[in-house]
Amino acid sequence: MTVSTIIGMQWGDEGKGKIIDILAKDYDYIVRFNGGDNAGHTIKVGNRKFGLHLVPSCIFYPEKFKVIGNGVVINPETLLKEINEVENAGYSLKNLIISEAAHVILQWHKELDGIEDEKGGIGTTKRGIGPSFADKASRNTAIRICDLYNDNLKERIASIAELKIKIISAYGKETKFNDDEILNKLKSFAEKIKPFVRNTSYLLNEAIDKKKKILLEGAQGTLLDIDHGTYPFVTSSNTTTGAACTGSGIPPKKINKVIGITKAYTTRVGSGPFPTELTDDLGEKIRQKGGEFGTTTGRPRRCGWLDLVALKYSAMINGTDELVITKLDVLSELDELKICVAYEIDGKKTEEFPVIEKLKLAKPVYTSFKGWNINEEGWNKIKKNKKMPKELKEYLDFISKETKTKISMISYGPEREETVLL
Ligand code: IMP
Repeated sequence: MTVSTIIGMQWGDEGKGKIIDILAKDYDYIVRFNGGDNAGHTIKVGNRKFGLHLVPSCIFYPEKFKVIGNGVVINPETLLKEINEVENAGYSLKNLIISEAAHVILQWHKELDGIEDEKGGIGTTKRGIGPSFADKASRNTAIRICDLYNDNLKERIASIAELKIKIISAYGKETKFNDDEILNKLKSFAEKIKPFVRNTSYLLNEAIDKKKKILLEGAQGTLLDIDHGTYPFVTSSNTTTGAACTGSGIPPKKINKVIGITKAYTTRVGSGPFPTELTDDLGEKIRQKGGEFGTTTGRPRRCGWLDLVALKYSAMINGTDELVITKLDVLSELDELKICVAYEIDGKKTEEFPVIEKLKLAKPVYTSFKGWNINEEGWNKIKKNKKMPKELKEYLDFISKETKTKISMISYGPEREETVLL
C-alpha cells in the first residue's frame, strides 16, 4: 500500500507543482484534497509550462487518474477554462474524476470575498474561497456538485441569491444576480463534467484495495491552515495532513508517507506577521531571482530567511517523513545566509510557534551560514556525483537535524531535471 501526501510546510508557493509532477510517475492516482482556485501550481517540462489551479498537477501523464476530492471548492468557470486549456494544449483529461461531494463557488462568493476582505484586510485571492467554505459549514446555503443534478436547483439558486443580496446590502453595497443566467451556466457546466463525477471516497478506497498508488496533493501551506496556521491570516480550509483524509475519504491509517515541501527561504502573499521577512534590497533580490510573484494573482510575494521555528512546528503538525527543499539556486551567490532558530518575544527566547498576537511581537534569533556559490554547471555536477560543497551540506544537514526529518530531494530550478534525489 502506498498512499503519500504532499504538504506545503510554509505559507504556500513552496514549489509543490514541480515536485508532484516529478513524483507522479510512480503513482496511479493524483488527488487534490483542499482549497480551490486560490491555489496555483506551476509545472514546467522543457518549453511546456502550465499554471494549474484545480486540475491535479500531473497533466503531462495522460494515463494517471486526476481526482478533485470532496474537500475542494470548485469554481465552475475556472475548471471549464482549465479543462479547455489543458485539452487544447493536447493533453488528455479522459481520466479526470470529480467528487460529487465537492462544493461549488458561486458568483456571490466572489463578490462577498471582495467586500469582506476590504474590511478584514487578510489580503485574500478574492476567489470566493472564504464565503464558499462558510456556506459549506452553514449547510443551508451551499451547493455541491451532486446538487447540480437535482430538480430543485432553480428554486435553490433563487432563494440563496435573494439572501445574498440582503447580506451584501447590509454591507452597504447594492448588487443583482441574474438567476436564469446562473442556472443556465451551472446546467451547462454540470452537463460537461457529468462523465467525470463520482463518489471519490469509494473510488479511492477501492483503488487502495487493488494496490494502486495514490498521491494526495495539498494546496497552500501549513501556516495558512485554518486551525494550525497564523489565524486569521489563513485560508478557509485545512492544509495539513489531516485534511488529506477528510478531503479525500482516505482513512489516516492508510496514509503511509508525508512529504513536506519547503523553500530554502520563506515567502508569503497577503497580510499577516512574518518574523523573518526581509524588507530591504536583499528581500527584493530574492524576489526577483526567485520570480516570487503569485501564480494566481500576480502579487509580489514577501520574502525572508528560512524560519526553523515555523518549519519544526509544521513538521510536528504534519508528521512529516521526508522533506524536499526547493529553490536552493535562488540563494546561490549570497556570501552569508541566515536561518531563524528561535524567536524573542517580550524579552524571552522561545522555540515554540506562538498564536498570532505573540507572533506579531516575535523577533527572529538567527544562526549564520556561509553561502555557496554554485552555478548551473556546479548544480549538474552535484546531481551527477551526489557530492555537495561543504557550505550547502552544512545548510541542509542543519535543517534535517533540527526538524529530525531526512531530506529526500533538493531542487535548484523549475525544470524536472533540476532536481537531486538524495
Ligand atoms: P484565500 O485563500 O483567497 O481566502 O486567501 C487567504 C490567504 O491565503 C491570503 O493571504 C492569500 O494570499 C493566501 N493564499 C491562498 N492561496 C494561496 C496559495 O496557493 N499560495 C499562497 N498563498 C495563498
